[in-house]
Amino acid sequence: MELLDGKVTANAVLEELTEAVNQMKAEGKRAPHLAAILVGNDGASLTYVGGKVKACERVGFESSLIRMPEETTEEELLSKVAELNADDSIDGFIVQLPLPKHINEDKVVQAVAPEKDVDGFHPVNVGRMALGLPSFLSATPYGIVQLLERYKIPTEGKHCVIIGRSNIVGSPMSILMRRNAHPGNCTVTVTHSRTKDLAAFTRDADILIVALGRPEFVTADMVKEGAVVIDVGITRVEDTSRPKGYRVTGDVKFDEVAPKSSFITPVPGGVGRMTIASLMMNTLMAARKEIYP
Ligand code: GUN
Repeated sequence: MELLDGKVTANAVLEELTEAVNQMKAEGKRAPHLAAILVGNDGASLTYVGGKVKACERVGFESSLIRMPEETTEEELLSKVAELNADDSIDGFIVQLPLPKHINEDKVVQAVAPEKDVDGFHPVNVGRMALGLPSFLSATPYGIVQLLERYKIPTEGKHCVIIGRSNIVGSPMSILMRRNAHPGNCTVTVTHSRTKDLAAFTRDADILIVALGRPEFVTADMVKEGAVVIDVGITRVEDTSRPKGYRVTGDVKFDEVAPKSSFITPVPGGVGRMTIASLMMNTLMAARKEIYP
């Protein structure tokens, strides 16, 4: 069993980005610039956005955090989005989700210019990905692709089984794993809450991607010997023995599944670690106009 180490891999990605920025500067170009809009005071969102700003500082990107009050109207937010779309000094931006209930998230996501949508949430980017055209991939799917690529995991002809069909993980992963590329060229099965005899599918998986958000759902009896196991779950489970009163738990029962697997992502320190690195990579590509020349 070998760990797919998200911490080590994300650090390597950030090092590469730092070098790329230094090179841009040496060529007289400005550093990539990422902006983030945060509406309201949600604690988790503040932490996530703070992590993104910190990562920008680390690699030498410029960053702008635009905070708007909880009472911001949809119209005001859409007007800020339009402003950032038109601002040539900003290469890419994100609107941190979730938004307050009185704002229609779909409307906001669709207002972001696709060439600045470094979250990869706009339907144009999702559609381009589905067609195999260059696109921004959203952070979690891109992070998983990076892990498979950097650990040189063979994927061609393998049976990839995905648990979960969400728009942010399960569905895009199914498209990426079956595309004619590397990683890719898998035969893909997408399972979900209505799947009958789920274990019959998971036991046949060469590559198992688990993204349903149920702590320790996947047990050893559901996994084939030698499988590659990607755990996307990050659920806070109460644990009074920890200083914060909780621990973060994946969707896979790691202790019993790890010995059966050839590669496995830990939680924490696996897929989650890769997401900010992916956002930074998208921002560099936006600055270089690689997706939309
Ligand atoms: N909220 C949780 N994850 C994300 C993300 O990847 N992007 C944005 N914009 N909001 C989020």
